[in-house]
Amino acid sequence: MALLETQVGQLVDTTLLLCLLLVVLFLILVKDSKSVYLPPGPWGVPVLGVLPFLRKDPQLTLMEWAKKYGNIFTVKMGTRTIVMLNGYEAIRDVFQRKGALSSGRPHLLTFDFLRGKGILCADYSKGFKRQREFIIKYLSKLDVEKHTEDEIDALIQYIRHKNGQPFDFNNAVSASTSNVIGTILFGSRQEYDDPDFQALINAYHNAAKLSSQASVQNFLPFLWFLPQCRKLSIAWEAFAEAVNRILEKHKMGYNPLATRGLIDTMMHQTNENNQNSKSLFDTEDLKANCQTLYVTGSETTSTALTWGMLFLLSYPDVCKKLQSELDEVVGKSRRPTLEDRPKLPFTCATLMELQRCNNITPFSAPHKATQDIRVHGYLIPKGTQLMANYWSIFMNERIWSNPHDFQPMRFMDDCGNVKKVEGFIPFSLGKRSCPGESLAKPEMFLILTALVHTFTFQVPDGEVLPAPVGTTGSVYVPPKFTVCARPRT
Ligand code: HEM
Repeated sequence: MALLETQVGQLVDTTLLLCLLLVVLFLILVKDSKSVYLPPGPWGVPVLGVLPFLRKDPQLTLMEWAKKYGNIFTVKMGTRTIVMLNGYEAIRDVFQRKGALSSGRPHLLTFDFLRGKGILCADYSKGFKRQREFIIKYLSKLDVEKHTEDEIDALIQYIRHKNGQPFDFNNAVSASTSNVIGTILFGSRQEYDDPDFQALINAYHNAAKLSSQASVQNFLPFLWFLPQCRKLSIAWEAFAEAVNRILEKHKMGYNPLATRGLIDTMMHQTNENNQNSKSLFDTEDLKANCQTLYVTGSETTSTALTWGMLFLLSYPDVCKKLQSELDEVVGKSRRPTLEDRPKLPFTCATLMELQRCNNITPFSAPHKATQDIRVHGYLIPKGTQLMANYWSIFMNERIWSNPHDFQPMRFMDDCGNVKKVEGFIPFSLGKRSCPGESLAKPEMFLILTALVHTFTFQVPDGEVLPAPVGTTGSVYVPPKFTVCARPRT
């Protein structure tokens, strides 16, 4: 009897212990239930996460991981946990269909000089949304031809004066795109010999160069104490100062009854000039948006155009076909205009193929989940960082046959018209998509067509054109090359 009692007692103890263990396990699971649904992904090493495994072209490594873990997977990059989106459906389902839920912005160390203000760095909020809509509306109504024509004239003059001698195409075209965004912001061209403008250009190039070398430190914030990183933040602060100096000078000529450019329209809306308590921009917003649009508006377009030239030099047949179409439709006595676009399907298809083949932004800027997001069976907790790998769309064999080949005809249908392809989203989708699309597309068209219509471009004698393989930094940068140009007869 005593033995039986002991055995029953032991059974009760074991059962109680098991119950206790189950309760503890249940509590742990409930507490961690959110992370349990985070998509799986590759393991990394302590502190660095997967950073040591990303190799030179991280977009390619991430595409390989997508094959193993699915189109939505989690990676730890340094101190940050990031949910990576691959392929059109995943990017659309999260960035577009989840709307504001996926449109927050985490703290971006590189852009600390913006103090979390301006439409690139601001987190998702009513104020951000209204500022973004205001800027998009202004850019979409802009007369892009009027704002680019002087710069195109100056660029053509510059190339003519080279008299067939080799020159760095990227340098030449960067000056033009910087000036276009400057004209849009301030309402008039900045003269090249203006010392404030020179200081701005130099400060910007210096900061952009350091940024591409130091972009990994966005994931390892503790490295910001190193001298190289301090140099970067000093360089961006110098750029911000240079913009502010021009802005202060511009403000002195402000007249509430006149509008010289985008800055004036923003100034009409600041607290100082608008007694309405719901003013859209305060002085800090004004500065940050001016700096933001300068940064995002110049390097992107010039880099895309430089890739364009590299591909046209590599595929002279495509360039000849483009020139024939322009000669036939536009003739020789004037420059191509935006009105010509519907009659230039091959030219438009070539521009689209150029953007697909050398997508200058392989990744989105980091987004942040503003609420828990349920997608594709996962639960992504509020506050998680999200990033899209656009490369995985543009090099996807299911959408494009032989995606590495440059074939403008893939954007044309059998009747010779431009074909819309779902999934062609170089400017992204959703509430954080590129607000500069309505400027960048016509600007690229006008500059590239004016150049190939006016000149024949060639690789300088004795030089070899580099392979079209870029370096991933803040944008996908083409290799350095020079060109010679001769006026067409
Ligand atoms: C070929 C030219 C360009 C390309 C391919 C491009 C592409 C992109 C992409 C992919 C994004 C990120 C979208 C995301 O994170 O979901 C972006 C953001 C942005 N772009 Fe562009 N862009 C170009 C030109 C421009 C220009 C000319 C401007 C300015 C006038 C501009 C201003 C911006 C800004 C401010 C953002 C951040 C928007 C936000 O956070 O809400 N971009 N761009």
